[in-house]
Amino acid sequence: MKTILVTGGAGFIGSNFVRHLYRKHADYRLIVVDSLTYAGNVQNCPDGAIPYQHLEKAIPRFITSCILKEPLTVHGDGSAKRDWIFVEEHCHALDCLLDVELDKIAGQVMNIGTGTDKSILEVAEAVLEVMKPNESRIQFIGDRPGQVFRHTCDASKMKRLLGCEPRLSFEEGLERTIRWYRENESWWRPQMWMRHIPIVTAKGKREMH
Ligand SMILES: NC(=O)c1ccc[n+]([C@@H]2O[C@H](COP(=O)([O-])OP(=O)(O)OC[C@H]3O[C@@H](n4cnc5c(N)ncnc54)[C@H](O)[C@@H]3O)[C@@H](O)[C@H]2O)c1
Repeated sequence: MKTILVTGGAGFIGSNFVRHLYRKHADYRLIVVDSLTYAGNVQNCPDGAIPYQHLEKAIPRFITSCILKEPLTVHGDGSAKRDWIFVEEHCHALDCLLDVELDKIAGQVMNIGTGTDKSILEVAEAVLEVMKPNESRIQFIGDRPGQVFRHTCDASKMKRLLGCEPRLSFEEGLERTIRWYRENESWWRPQMWMRHIPIVTAKGKREMH
């Protein structure tokens, strides 16, 4: 019997990984360690569907803004880019990692991602395209202090060593995520306070982002 210790297992990625392992490997013994900070939530752990991501993050915020008939607030000009990977794909890659012979990966550092990036503005537009809200529009607000212009990764090593690459397209992952937020309002409504965080700008102005 394999025993897997998942640290941060009550958080977004950790709880998705615990559920993934529980569904795929009923014979594994799973041990979760989590200090239950503001981010950890034991309600994330029972078996369920997917996302459970903090509402302050771009995709959950855009989706919930459409449902709440609010503007989709985009920081700066929205050109900052990220490598967006659907959480279940991330869990699949971690699972592949557990299956590979140790000799192949010992001492290695591996990027898990899609290897492609999309700007925040493109993501906001993609959410609007799927959800087609009547009331919500994109609204540009001040940039985040320390905004990173581009976060992406070279996923070729993951493919080479694990034989693993994302199976879902960005659009498919987004549609599943939107469906999840539409069907799980009872999970996210009590966490609405997390949708915006206070930022103090370089000029000392306090803004909600
Ligand atoms: N979510 C993303 O899109 C994303 C992207 C890139 C990197 N990451 C990184 O991946 C990791 C997990 O991300 P996430 O979105 O699941 O975060 P999360 O905040 O949802 O979960 C983190 C979990 O770790 C727990 N925790 C914090 N400190 C701990 C400690 N000392 N001991 C035990 N548990 C502790 C928290 O209570 C929480 O449950 C983080 O390091 C994050 O920076 C996340």
